[in-house]
Amino acid sequence: MNINEYKDIVQKTLEEYFENYKKNALYDKTIWDAMSYTCLLAGKKLRAVFCLETSRALCGAWEQALATSCAIEMLHAQSLIHDDLPCMDNDDLRRGKPSNHKVFGEAMAVLAGDALISLGAQIIIDKTPKTVNTATLMEVLRLYLKSAGAFGIVAGQCADMEAEKKLGKIDEKHLNYIHTYKTAALFECAIVSGALLSGATCDRVELMRDFAQSFGLAFQIYDDILDVISTTDELGKTAGKDEKEGKATYVTLFGLEKSKEKFNELILNCHDILKKTGIESEVFNGILDKMHERVNR
Ligand code: IPE
Ligand code: IPE
Ligand code: MG
Ligand code: MG
Ligand code: MG
Repeated sequence: MNINEYKDIVQKTLEEYFENYKKNALYDKTIWDAMSYTCLLAGKKLRAVFCLETSRALCGAWEQALATSCAIEMLHAQSLIHDDLPCMDNDDLRRGKPSNHKVFGEAMAVLAGDALISLGAQIIIDKTPKTVNTATLMEVLRLYLKSAGAFGIVAGQCADMEAEKKLGKIDEKHLNYIHTYKTAALFECAIVSGALLSGATCDRVELMRDFAQSFGLAFQIYDDILDVISTTDELGKTAGKDEKEGKATYVTLFGLEKSKEKFNELILNCHDILKKTGIESEVFNGILDKMHERVNR
């Protein structure tokens, strides 16, 4: 499977889930509209692709990871909906369209985010093929719940909000902490879940955890860099916002050149880990190369 084939199957599966679940709504159809709105907009589906491709690369099949990959896209959509709220980053544009709260209002955007987290967990339990053993399923579910909450995205978003406008007091260790939790945690969930669902050996699961941590940090630095070097049109979200809002990012703290160096170093490390794990993957290499090219052109 190539990246677009993975993206299509994830999109189609998410559409089916929402269509079926929506059917039974009576006085609450709005919540399903709000949940599906952000989730089905054209995002890169990078976390789902990583989850599926990790499973394929380690055992030759991706199907057992499909439900989890869709759940992770739901959790990702939640993190974006809440991140855009006026009380957080206050962003009106997401994936090239008005942010969730601009369409459905703040109350519905809060509720849609809440509901997406629990729906994702429910889907992992209900839709993972019964051939996956219960111990593995429990481990995947635990990782999902951990990455959603105060040991994951919420920890990072808390530290991110509190670092706002305090740039002089933030050092690299502090910034890495923010980025690791707000962003790398979900990549870790996606990639390690894919590895667990493939039945990989412990040492390969741990190598892929290292990969996910390096990639997750690289990805947030990439996002910080793009905020400065790209246009709003290219990003589908408001460019140049981090500096204006006093956000602690690699670029606002250390400048563009040092951010690029750190990003390049992490991408090299990702390639090394893939080699060590014995993974030959055009999908992984394609994603790493595309990001590297965009930063260094
Ligand atoms: C945006 O993630 C949020 C960050 C963690 C930087 P993506 O850039 O993967 O967003 P979509 O899914 O493509 O919209
Ligand atoms: C992303 O951080 C973190 C989460 C959404 C959890 P940003 O605030 O930089 O993401 P964008 O730039 O709004 O997508
Ligand atoms: Mg943010
Ligand atoms: Mg934001
Ligand atoms: Mg950003």
